[in-house]
Parts: sequence; C-alpha cells; structure tokens
Amino acid sequence: MRILTGIQSSGRPHLGNILGAIAPAIKLSQEAGNESFLFIADLHSLTTLRDGESLREFVRAIAATWLAFGYDTTHNTIWRQSRVPEHAELAWYLNCFTPMPMLENATSYKDKVEKLGSSAVSAGLFTYPILQAADILLYDADLVPVGKDQRQHIEMTRDIASSVNHQYNSEVFVLPKPRIDERIMTIPGIDGAKMSKSYGNYIDIFQPANELYKVIKKIKSDSTPLEDPKNPDTDITFQLYSLIASDEQIADMRQNYDNGGYGYGHAKKELYELILMNYATERERFDFYMTHNDELEKVLREGEEKARAVARQTIERVRTVMGFN
Ligand code: TYM
Repeated sequence: MRILTGIQSSGRPHLGNILGAIAPAIKLSQEAGNESFLFIADLHSLTTLRDGESLREFVRAIAATWLAFGYDTTHNTIWRQSRVPEHAELAWYLNCFTPMPMLENATSYKDKVEKLGSSAVSAGLFTYPILQAADILLYDADLVPVGKDQRQHIEMTRDIASSVNHQYNSEVFVLPKPRIDERIMTIPGIDGAKMSKSYGNYIDIFQPANELYKVIKKIKSDSTPLEDPKNPDTDITFQLYSLIASDEQIADMRQNYDNGGYGYGHAKKELYELILMNYATERERFDFYMTHNDELEKVLREGEEKARAVARQTIERVRTVMGFN
C-alpha cells in the first residue's frame, strides 16, 4: 500500500503533529508491503509564513523530525514539496475541477475568515485544499495518516479526484483514504484547546530540557488543593501523559489523582520526565540533523529525485487524458 502525508513548515513540529501524524506514518512505513511518501509541505506554509529565514529553519526541523523518528529513506521517499514543480502543475488542473462552494465550505477557510475577515485571506489560503489534493493524487496514495482536522481535506481530495475520473471516464486518479487514530484524534495544547502552532499552546519535545519544563509547568489545571483527590479525566496533564505513557504508568498516575496528596506539579514533573525518557533517542538525532545540514540536504536531494520521477509519470498520465499531450 502507498502511504503519504505531509507536515507544513510553518513552525517546528510539536507533540500534536508527532502523535497525530508523524509517529503513525512512520509506523505504517515500517509495515511489510508498504511504500511511503512523507514530505515537507513548504508551499502550503507560504500561506501563513513570509519570512525566508524562518521558513528555511522550519523546513530543516520538519526533515530532521522525520529522520529522528526513524524514517528509512533508503526504501521510502522524503522531499520538499517546492522542489517538485509537478505539485503546482497538478494543482492548476485540479483547480478547474473544484466547485467554489466546496472551498467556501472548508472549515479552515471559514475559521480564518471569521477570525481575520475575508480581506486578510489570500487566494492561496482559499485554494489550499486543492494543492493538498495535488500532493496526494500525484503519488497515487492509498492511505493518508493525519489528525482529525485534516479529514475534510481528504474528503475534498476524493471528490475532486472522482470528478476528474468521471469526466474522462478513466481511472486517472487513485481515491485515497484517511487514517485517523481515534484515540489521538485531537491532541490538546497546554491551554486545553487543540494543540496548534498558531495558538502558541504547543509542546516542542526537541526544546532544551529546562525550556521544555517551563512550558509543561504552564499547562492549565484547576485549583483543587494538593491534599484533595483530583479528577484525572478532566485534566490536561493527565490527558497528555496518557498519550505517551504505558498502561501501567497511566494506572499509577490515575491512582495518585484518586488518592489525593498528589499535586498537579507532581504530575507535570512526571510528564516532563517521561517526555525526556521516551524521546531521548529522537531528541539526540534531531540535534544531530539540525547541526549537520549537509547530511540533511543530501537525504532531501535524493528524495526529491525519487519523488519527481513518480510525479512526472502521473502528470504525463493526466496530460494525456486531458488532451495536453
Ligand atoms: P499541519 O502541518 O497543520 O499538521 C501536520 C499533521 O499533524 C496533525 N495535527 C494534529 N493531530 C492531532 N492533534 C493535534 N493537535 C494536531 N495538530 C496537527 C494534522 O492533522 C496533520 O496530519 N494540510 C496539512 C499538511 C498537508 C498534507 C498534505 C497532509 C499538505 N499536504 C497531504 C496530508 C496529505 C496540514 O496543515 O498539516
């Protein structure tokens, strides 16, 4: 099966990206019979980030994260979207098959208009789902591991692909399916809202330990006194801990909450220590790639060649069916 997913380079990857998409995608890439296409959606990030220096750094951070989590690039592919111009080319063809109301109904677009007003929204942001559809269809992806917030984008991709297939009475595109882990559909941020780069409520597991601890200490909690029992199921620290801890560790912490005499500060310290322990290897590898740019660049260049070869074939197929060849 072909697996594909992308991460925008609008910031360094946070725990939500890692648990919602990066870790599940890497796991799928390691299953026998699967072939993976995991990429850096740098063109998408231009809709919100207009600072070249930051963009370059975030692109490196996303690439370093894929590698830190053990992505095997000898059997799979990793690339920067902007280096494969076929993404933009296919997006144009798909533009012509996308009804305006479909885009007007996109939740991410509606949210932005509501928050910022329509004059603050660029055409790029409006057509963002079409570029995403191109990313997926270009590589004949069967399965797209993503967080819950991306479900609508995958549905739009399927609708656009079906409409082209139907128009030309041909199986030019493979219809992809989303893979969304029900347990970790939406990872909360330190304020309890969805963890997001744009809300500034995220946990960056690659931060130096003391800075990471500072962020974890800021996780919102209620004012139940230390000695009283606490409800783990409504607490953000417990929720985050449960996502990365073993069943035994979760049961222990639950017991501590129930017993009382155990403060939120204790839980936060345990969460912090667990992150450092669970992700020790990933933190080391991340630092290695962030300080060895040549290694990173080599992997990306090789990936770009592989990605482009696949993308070219799809584009030729599309051009033929549409009458451009
Ligand atoms: P992006 O960069 O916003 O997020 C990357 C991935 O992380 C998931 N995610 C979360 N999952 C659980 N809880 C959270 N709090 C959380 N925050 C983020 C997202 O669901 C996503 O899977 N449009 C995409 C990037 C993209 C893409 C693609 C994805 C471009 N082309 C093609 C798949 C296929 C995005 O903005 O992701």
